[in-house]
Amino acid sequence: MCGIVGYIGYSKADNVIISSLKRLEYRGYDSWGVAISEGGRLNVYKQVGAIGEVESYELGDSTIGIGHTRWATHGKPSEVNAHPHLDCNKRIAIVHNGIIENFLPLKERLIKEGHRFVSETDTEVIAHLIEKNYKGDLEKAVVAALPELKGSYAIVAISSKERKLVACRYKSPLILGVGDGEYFIASDVPAVLEYTNRVVYLEDGDVVTITDSGYEIKNNGVEVSRKVELVSWSIEDAEKGGYEHFMLKEIHETPRVIEDTLLGYVSETIDLDVSFAAGTSEIIFVACGTSYHAALVGKYVIEEMSGIPVRVEYASEFNYHPAPLSRSLVVGITQSGETADTLEALRKAKRAGARVLAITNVLGSSVTRIADYVIYTRAGPEIGVAATKTFIAQLVVIYLMAAKLSMLTRSEVEKLVLELKLLPERVRRILDKEDKIREIGEFLADYENMMYIGRGLGYPVALEGALKMKEISYIHAEGYPAGELKHGPFALLGKETPVVACVIRDNTYDITLNNIKEVKARDSPVIAIADEKDEEVEKYVDFVVRTPEVDRIFTPVTYSVALQLLAYYTAKKRGCEIDKPRHLAKSVTVE
Ligand code: G6P
Repeated sequence: MCGIVGYIGYSKADNVIISSLKRLEYRGYDSWGVAISEGGRLNVYKQVGAIGEVESYELGDSTIGIGHTRWATHGKPSEVNAHPHLDCNKRIAIVHNGIIENFLPLKERLIKEGHRFVSETDTEVIAHLIEKNYKGDLEKAVVAALPELKGSYAIVAISSKERKLVACRYKSPLILGVGDGEYFIASDVPAVLEYTNRVVYLEDGDVVTITDSGYEIKNNGVEVSRKVELVSWSIEDAEKGGYEHFMLKEIHETPRVIEDTLLGYVSETIDLDVSFAAGTSEIIFVACGTSYHAALVGKYVIEEMSGIPVRVEYASEFNYHPAPLSRSLVVGITQSGETADTLEALRKAKRAGARVLAITNVLGSSVTRIADYVIYTRAGPEIGVAATKTFIAQLVVIYLMAAKLSMLTRSEVEKLVLELKLLPERVRRILDKEDKIREIGEFLADYENMMYIGRGLGYPVALEGALKMKEISYIHAEGYPAGELKHGPFALLGKETPVVACVIRDNTYDITLNNIKEVKARDSPVIAIADEKDEEVEKYVDFVVRTPEVDRIFTPVTYSVALQLLAYYTAKKRGCEIDKPRHLAKSVTVE
């Protein structure tokens, strides 16, 4: 997903911008560009592909500029489609994240008015609209252009004539970094952390004008003050800390993430306030990708523990279902807090009068402005595109929610809290034995198709395991309810198609073993994920990944960590770009 950076201060802008853009690489991109304003003109550099390792770029000595990493939506990845985009006279340059939905009619009109376009992008119309309104004041020109735009945007504009940046946001993330005598604009906090930990989270409709002497934020033409937040993440948090990949580092952070998330909401008992759910007739989860799988675990756990009916919808499909009732609680799960489909689903829920809760990892993210209530996971920044530790943190919050919504007795809650507090140690034991998982991962590296199966709680675990595998190793991996396999996918089984079975010792156990036998009878190699007390399963499978015994409702935590490692080592053996898988983006801010 596109990343935006702007800088004004006393350092060489091109170097600051490029190093900040590198910190946004985790969002995924296919091309990039920088523009600086120097001596009354704009110097622009654009390139397809990765920024690479060069530490310093020579665009000029200017101390003001903008930069962008592009994730293609309108028009293929190419130099001409890369941002920054310029007006006809090359006096104005802009970078943009989001989508301008009405760009075609705007473009046609601007062409009739004499504007010349060079790219296929929706973004270029913004540069021309600003040009059309420019009479020597960039802020006024941006403000005049905005009402014409339909869609979502975070924009930073620069001109060759004035020493200022003008930035604005609507439905796309944008933060302002406040340094000493220097200012930064960026899509996300890691971009500025090397320079400052003082950050303003801009809100929808904000227009910020930044000069050397400070910044001014206006919303609807009225000056507003926004709090400067101190970000507690260190730059090391956002870096690899000695691991070969962010993904491996982040998996290894899981025990701490569980502890931190519990610390926020658990003391002797569970302190999480769920009064927002009082009188709710149903809970509807909306989410995408990995967060959707966390929601599916939520369905099993919350229905079982509280009896409240739970629906789980892909956020992108939510619009095509009946609107929630006003007594519904709609819960958006999104680690980034910026996933456009999830945000849009929550807006729909609000319009229907439902209560809206967000579970997110990012303070001040867009979802926190939409939701009536917010529960934060405390996983710290996650850089690897494939979600790992944030997924586990989402599960922890879901367990806490389920427990608070349930009719558990005091002693049952105490037992649950005890079990939760043991989870970090259980996960550490999986991490200590990752060599065994690596061996199995390397065995899988030669295959091109896989199935993941599970029943009950094992089913969402299977879906998430398969998603991890396909995301980072590019092996075609499908997750199925174990019972569904015989209704079609059996046709794909055979010695070329290994099956990973999530085997939980509960009421699904015996029947899952039967399903494994059926699979083995069709020659597929079988890898079971099971707990260390299971003495039966190894008789029927080729490999067993053992995890420490936990209460059955927590198996999604231990099994998922094992499956994340399995995908990691398979992808590593295949030589894949683990942290930045092809075609994927960390934060998908378009619908
Ligand atoms: C993208 C990422 C996935 C993630 C999904 C939802 O597709 O590549 O890893 O699960 O977005 O992201 P969210 O931030 O809403 O949890």
